[in-house]
Amino acid sequence: MKIVVLNEADMRRVFTMKDAVQADKDALKLYSEGKSNIPLRANLDVPEYEGQSLYMYGYAAPAHALGVKIVSVYPKNIEKGLTSVPATMVLVNSETGEVCSIMDGTFLTRIRTGAVSGAATDELARKDSKVFALFGTGGQAETQLEAVLTVRPIELVKVFDISMERAEAFAQRMTEQFGKKFGVKIIAAASSEEAVEDADIITTVTTAKKAVFDGKLVKRGAHINGVGSYTPDMAEIDEYLVINADKVYVDTRDGAVNESGDLIQPIKKGVFSADRITGELGEVISGKVPGRVSDSEITFFETTGSAVLDIVTAQRIYECAVSQGIGGIIEM
Ligand SMILES: NC(=O)c1ccc[n+]([C@@H]2O[C@H](COP(=O)([O-])OP(=O)(O)OC[C@H]3O[C@@H](n4cnc5c(N)ncnc54)[C@H](O)[C@@H]3O)[C@@H](O)[C@H]2O)c1
Repeated sequence: MKIVVLNEADMRRVFTMKDAVQADKDALKLYSEGKSNIPLRANLDVPEYEGQSLYMYGYAAPAHALGVKIVSVYPKNIEKGLTSVPATMVLVNSETGEVCSIMDGTFLTRIRTGAVSGAATDELARKDSKVFALFGTGGQAETQLEAVLTVRPIELVKVFDISMERAEAFAQRMTEQFGKKFGVKIIAAASSEEAVEDADIITTVTTAKKAVFDGKLVKRGAHINGVGSYTPDMAEIDEYLVINADKVYVDTRDGAVNESGDLIQPIKKGVFSADRITGELGEVISGKVPGRVSDSEITFFETTGSAVLDIVTAQRIYECAVSQGIGGIIEM
């Protein structure tokens, strides 16, 4: 048995954000068509070390994608100089059942999560979108930025974080990385209001528990991606926006209505209901559900993530690496 081992540098060499956006679109389409088997994530507590180990697994036959992403949450790791959320993807050959690849799960999560916003933006945002507001400048922010820059001709990015220092450092780093490549100006916004003003696209990728911007300030025709809220008590999106958006889309209905506070909180209050969700992004991609129909509509997309994104993206990365001879090999 040959196992291909891929670190972040290998993955970046063989796979672009554009590839990832396509992989996520294909994954969500398969999911919405019922062509994947994605069981509930298995969570194991490890109380001796105050840790938790999570297993996100699934199978999508048409994509030959089978595997498990192991993500652990060990808050005390920081004291040992280790990452507190280590993640590794284990990919299995669906024909033989043999493990065929092990890859960096942290980078996989970042690229597939950025790409899912990229996919939603590509399907739903106005084609002439020029101004992008990004909320949050943590570990997930870079791929969120790259994804939107990949699918729309953005000229100005306004970054907001509760830490102005982090926002400024991020804007500077991203200017070096993407400024020339995409012909874009990236600046730190001094306030949430300044970031939202005139924004055509807004992405929130924070750990906030309450709205990060005033929904009434969102201009007509804007598209919003909500990425950070993955528990019922986390919410980044102003309830006003959820209620007043013309269309509300999700990556998976199950995830959105069971995990995301952005939707659960207004549903609990009785000001929004799950049947007002326009559809899953996969249904838009397969043409079952309409996307944006006018330049004045406000569209909102909520993602909580799914193993289908991990397995399909990982399988594509593996295939690219094998065809280009990239990565280490373990023989067993
Ligand atoms: N949808 C998905 O599939 C998916 C995948 C991975 C991570 N996530 C979630 O995305 C969120 C962000 O992840 P991360 O790794 O970048 O986190 P992080 O902790 O590295 O960074 C979060 C950033 O948000 C900022 N922030 C907090 N409140 C804010 C506010 N009110 N306004 C502006 N900025 C604010 C923080 O200052 C920090 O810079 C987390 O909640 C994470 O669980 C979602």
